[in-house]
Amino acid sequence: MAATEAQEQLNPLLEGLSLRRTPDPCALVIFGASGDLTHKKLMPALYALKLRRLLPPRFAIVGVSRSEDDDDGFREDMKQAVQKHARDPFREDAWDELAASMHYVATDFADETGENRLAELLTELDGTHQLGGNRVYYLAVPPAAFPTIVAALGKRRKEITGWTRLIVEKPFGHDLASARELNTMLWKHFDEKEIFRIDHYLGKETVQNMLALRFANGIFEPIWNRQFVDHIQITVAESIGIEGRAGYYESAGAIRDIFQNHLLQLLALTAMEPPIDFTAESVRNEKVKVLKSIHTPGPKSVVRGQYGRGFVEGGEVPAYREEQGVAPDSMTETYVAAKLYVDNWRWADTPFYVRMGKRLARRETTIAIQFKRAPHPPFEETSAEGLRPNVLLVHVQPDEGVSLAIGAKVPGQGMQIRTVHMDFLYGGAFRTGMPEAYERLILDTLLGDGTLFTRADEVEEQWLLVDTIVAAWLRDRPGFPNYAAGTWGPPSADDLLHRDGRSWRRH
Ligand code: BG6
Repeated sequence: MAATEAQEQLNPLLEGLSLRRTPDPCALVIFGASGDLTHKKLMPALYALKLRRLLPPRFAIVGVSRSEDDDDGFREDMKQAVQKHARDPFREDAWDELAASMHYVATDFADETGENRLAELLTELDGTHQLGGNRVYYLAVPPAAFPTIVAALGKRRKEITGWTRLIVEKPFGHDLASARELNTMLWKHFDEKEIFRIDHYLGKETVQNMLALRFANGIFEPIWNRQFVDHIQITVAESIGIEGRAGYYESAGAIRDIFQNHLLQLLALTAMEPPIDFTAESVRNEKVKVLKSIHTPGPKSVVRGQYGRGFVEGGEVPAYREEQGVAPDSMTETYVAAKLYVDNWRWADTPFYVRMGKRLARRETTIAIQFKRAPHPPFEETSAEGLRPNVLLVHVQPDEGVSLAIGAKVPGQGMQIRTVHMDFLYGGAFRTGMPEAYERLILDTLLGDGTLFTRADEVEEQWLLVDTIVAAWLRDRPGFPNYAAGTWGPPSADDLLHRDGRSWRRH
């Protein structure tokens, strides 16, 4: 490809990017290099960063996993992953440059030989690539493997001359006790500031836009409270099932898989007070206050469901209990809806209705702020029949954007009022494509910015809430399955809102 042609292809990619500073040289060590996450998310993200020239000029990637392989085999495997999963067209020149910085170590860390080989390779790379001894370790492995790897890394901390950062993938524990144990184990070897706990929803553009929407505009904050907001609805709906992950999902369920992390983070960003600045500590201080203020919901305020057979996007799909690896009498929930209250001055008595589930009618993540009705519309009752209350709807995905439902006069001689929408769509407003969450999160780790990662106290608060909900569940056995795949969940989830004279947002 001619240089100008390549440049032209790159320009739209570079649009809108303004990097605060270039990350320091470093080595990124990915534990779990042969796993799904590395193939589908991490490597495509690194390739996207490479294309946009956002990686440090002196950089090395070391893949570590149990599978027997060598540098060339690893590079080839990753090349295929990028060709399959990257959001950008494949460019041989960019790939070759990235591949040249990639290395592989096969070990399960059960013995010291693997540990030694990795340490030797990193020392060698420090010399050849001048990495300054800086390290990012990425734990993309099942949690059972964390202790061995972390202990091995901890032993060698003194040998490291540069900075060290550790990225920890979810699930971060299974309950409060195990999350605390994990934190204690990590703190033996790493400072809290060196630990980057992933909640990939925080890397999504539209999730960050919630902060921009609220705090970069003067018009929303004054009405963002119990006086003007009737209630809030947060939906994390997926049309996919468990995608062959029964081993994990059976013991997690929707409450641990989505509610404990992504959902509660969305709620925290929606409800938090304005931080004094956009630093990691200020933002997380405000989020943790929200998490601490969530009132434990009573059993009647939480609904769980499990999907039966049904039709999703035109095709017939099996019931959860018929999925491979799932117990035929499984009581794992694939759906949760809850009514939550944030007990503080801003939100007292304002319900946050949240719902999340697998095999729902459609993929949709939204945050809907529903405002109170106008106190006294001076129109005849019939003229406003088509009028619904104002709703500010944040489309997290798909169709990323924000939409405000307002009442408008229908053209004509009479006074008929109907709801219309003022829409902002990312696709239309900006010419750049949407970065994948992992691009942002990896880059932020390279830059040492923990704002979009969850702090230990946040994770623990999230578990505290989940533990109390799960403890109450032990007392009864709902009749599962209780919703058909391809629907919007169990009827009891509708009742949860109907009891309050409200209903879930129409789709
Ligand atoms: C993961 C869950 O954290 O998030 C998955 O483990 C879920 O079960 C996924 O499918 C959803 O992420 P996204 O980015 O597709 O909304």
